Amino acid sequence: MTKPFTIYTERDFDGLRTVGKMVAETLDFITPYVVAGVSTYDIDRLVAEHTKKIGAVSACLGYNGYPKSCCVSRNDIICHGIPSKKEVLADGDIVNVDCTHIFNGYFGDCSRMFVIGEAAPRARELVKVAYDSMMAAIGVCRDGASFGEIGRVISALAGRHGFSIVEDFCGHGIGRVFHEAPNVLHYENPLSDKMIMRRGMVFTIEPMINEGAIEPVIAADGWTARTKDGGLSAQWEHTIGITDSGAEIFTKL
Ligand code: MF3
Ligand code: CO
Ligand code: CO
Repeated sequence: MTKPFTIYTERDFDGLRTVGKMVAETLDFITPYVVAGVSTYDIDRLVAEHTKKIGAVSACLGYNGYPKSCCVSRNDIICHGIPSKKEVLADGDIVNVDCTHIFNGYFGDCSRMFVIGEAAPRARELVKVAYDSMMAAIGVCRDGASFGEIGRVISALAGRHGFSIVEDFCGHGIGRVFHEAPNVLHYENPLSDKMIMRRGMVFTIEPMINEGAIEPVIAADGWTARTKDGGLSAQWEHTIGITDSGAEIFTKL
C-alpha cells in the first residue's frame, strides 16, 4: 500500500520558503568558521546559537533522542555524524553540515559540503558529483514526473565518474513534519517509477555519493553511519516543492 502524499497549498509554500531561507542563512553564517582546527562540536554550537538568534528551532535536537542541533559528517561518515570535541577538522577533509529548522510549524532541511584546505582531486570530484547529482535530480522534478527519474539521472552521473550511490538512506517528504511519505530513493529502482510527482508535494533530495562501498556501518552511538570500507562519502540536500512547471528550491536565499 502506498501512503498518501501530503499536498501543500500556496500558503504552506510561503511558510516553507521562509523556513527554507532561514536554514540557508544558518549555513551561510557558519561557512567562514568551517576550517581546519575547528571541532564539529564548535560547528554545532555556532549552528545552535544562530538558529536561536533568528527565532527558529532545531528539528534535530531531541529527535528520536538525537543529542545535537545539526549533523556534521566528515570524510567516511555517510550521514548523522554527531558533533564532538574529539572530531577536529583537518586540511584535506571533506565535511557535510546538515541543518533542519522549524519555524511557524514548517520544516526546512538542507545540507552542504565544505572542503577544508587542499583536498585530494578525487575528494573534490566526489563533492562536485554529489552536488551535481542533487541539482540534476531537482531538474527533473515537476508535476507529472515519476520519482524514478531521480534515481536515473543520479545513477548516470555517479556512474560516469565511477562513484556509487548509498541505498540505505533516502530523501523524504517534509513540510509540517520532519519526515513523511514519500521515501525519495536516489538510485534506480522499479518502485519509484510508479510514484508520480504532483503539484504541492514537498520533499528533500539528498543523495549520498561514495567513492567505494555503499554499505553503512552504524557506530555504537546509534547514529553515526560510516562507509564499511572507509571510503569517502559526500552529500548535499535541498528541500523542494513541486510546481506546474518544475520544482522550487526552498532552502536557498
Ligand atoms: N537532516 C537529516 C535528514 O536529512 C536528518 C537528521 S535526524 C537527526 O533527514 F536526528 F540526526 F538529526
Ligand atoms: Co533530509
Ligand atoms: Co538533512
